[in-house]
Amino acid sequence: MMADSLDSEKIIEYFKGKSILITGATGFLGKILVEKILRVQPDVKKIFLLVRAIDQASAKQRVQSEVTDTELFCLVKEKHGKGFDQFIDDKVVALAGDIIYEDLGLEPIVLAELAKELHVIVNGAATTNFYGRYDVSLDVNVLGVKHLCQLAKKCAGLKVFLHVSTAYAGGDREGLIQEREFEEGWTLREGLHLDLEAELRLVDDVRREVEEGKAQRKAMKELGLARARHFGWSNTYVFTKAMGEMLLGRLLLVRGGGGVPVVVVRPSIITSIRRDPLPGWMQGTRTIDTLIIGYAKQNLSCFLGDLDLVMDVIPGDMVVNAMMAAAVAHSAAAGSQSQQLTVYHVSSSLRNPAPYAVLYESGRRHFTEKPRLGKRGEVIPTKEMHFFKTIKSFQLYMLIRYRLPLEMLHLLNLLLCGFFSRLYSDLSRKYRYVMQLVDVYGPFAFFKGCFDDINLERLRQRMKQATKSSPHDDDDDDDDMFNFDPKIIDWNDYFYSIHIPGVLKYVLK
Ligand SMILES: NC(=O)c1ccc[n+]([C@@H]2O[C@H](COP(=O)([O-])OP(=O)(O)OC[C@H]3O[C@@H](n4cnc5c(N)ncnc54)[C@H](OP(=O)(O)O)[C@@H]3O)[C@@H](O)[C@H]2O)c1
Repeated sequence: MMADSLDSEKIIEYFKGKSILITGATGFLGKILVEKILRVQPDVKKIFLLVRAIDQASAKQRVQSEVTDTELFCLVKEKHGKGFDQFIDDKVVALAGDIIYEDLGLEPIVLAELAKELHVIVNGAATTNFYGRYDVSLDVNVLGVKHLCQLAKKCAGLKVFLHVSTAYAGGDREGLIQEREFEEGWTLREGLHLDLEAELRLVDDVRREVEEGKAQRKAMKELGLARARHFGWSNTYVFTKAMGEMLLGRLLLVRGGGGVPVVVVRPSIITSIRRDPLPGWMQGTRTIDTLIIGYAKQNLSCFLGDLDLVMDVIPGDMVVNAMMAAAVAHSAAAGSQSQQLTVYHVSSSLRNPAPYAVLYESGRRHFTEKPRLGKRGEVIPTKEMHFFKTIKSFQLYMLIRYRLPLEMLHLLNLLLCGFFSRLYSDLSRKYRYVMQLVDVYGPFAFFKGCFDDINLERLRQRMKQATKSSPHDDDDDDDDMFNFDPKIIDWNDYFYSIHIPGVLKYVLK
């Protein structure tokens, strides 16, 4: 249960001597978390990183090359100097496993050790593909949660289970979206009931009916989207993340004779690190970064979106700060039988909204002042980009600009006995691909909800109270190494001098 006050020192102290299991450490967010724990609390007992690999040696290799040896660990490396490798060897244990399997695919002996050792479990692993295969998304985002809960139940000393979900799991709703727990069976459509077992059976049926390979992949992707839409979600990712959350209540809170506090952290769109250890660092291309990259390359003349709408973004280091603070705040006191699940939106739309226009203006300013150079060193002029404010207007544009000329090419092709067959099928495929992207991402671009974060605000207030009563209080919130208050962010400055350069440096390279 929540204790009275919380400050940076308490958070750091908490992780001393603790053993933590983290999934998703090779991913964007997981890596930031691992780095932060190792940087602020070198006396953490062990950090177990479950990664997909064929054996222990490959798991260790993955952790080294994709996590600890990356530029993100520059400060930890600097601090430990020549002792860095030994430090990592002492603290980080790579485990070859996969959350889609019972017991996470781990040997019984490893499982027994985890059950004895673990104090904290953080599930950050997910398949984040909006339009992924339904079977894969169910396996990772839903059954993966079940398997981690099963491990959690075996851990006698477990103090907190932290699950990373997404704010968009609550659906494309307008207005204030509260940090409410999802009950099992809940859907966004009234009158419908979500039955996981039925969904798994459906997947099995399609697997049996459609031959493995390209056709099955397509069928699974379509099935995921169809089921998500049927129950009211816009894509397979957010739908299965919501389902995963539903299992937490059933599997972790109803335990014979005990309980473990469950924290669900729901970030909105996670952007590059704002402060430590490496401003601008990020991995992978998120929705809004497609716009930055397209603009940088000047190969996007138009985009879907309304510049007046708010995009809910939050820097990765703030998400990790909130995760660590929440884990500490809810960690079970010795001997307590907590049965509480608490949801935290880690978002910005309520406290410090950032409209798309800020991103666009910052990008225009950045690329006008520092234009990109072409292959021959020529300056690529920065052009205006056109934004379609509705999906309908975009569809009309696509019809006139591409679909009608395509139909004419089709006719010409028939007249010329298939002379343009290849060109026609190539262009048709591209057209269908763009329209499909719009179908999947469109609802996201026009999202009109606002994430309430009253639970997180309470946590912030507790941190602030503790800071104010501290004799070292210098009134500068930004100095707090666990700050997760979006109000301190100047979005113009963040996009212009941190995020856009970060995308160019770490993603576009
Ligand atoms: N990024 C965002 O904007 C955002 C926003 C809201 C919420 N989230 C949530 O935050 C979490 C982390 O997201 P992210 O952006 O860091 O994702 P990411 O970069 O795509 O990383 C996903 C991680 O999950 C691991 N993983 C996937 N399937 C697995 C399996 N079967 N067994 C074990 N590990 C598996 C991946 O391992 P491999 O390296 O082996 O693929 C990778 O380490 C996710 O739960 C996501 O839903 C992210």
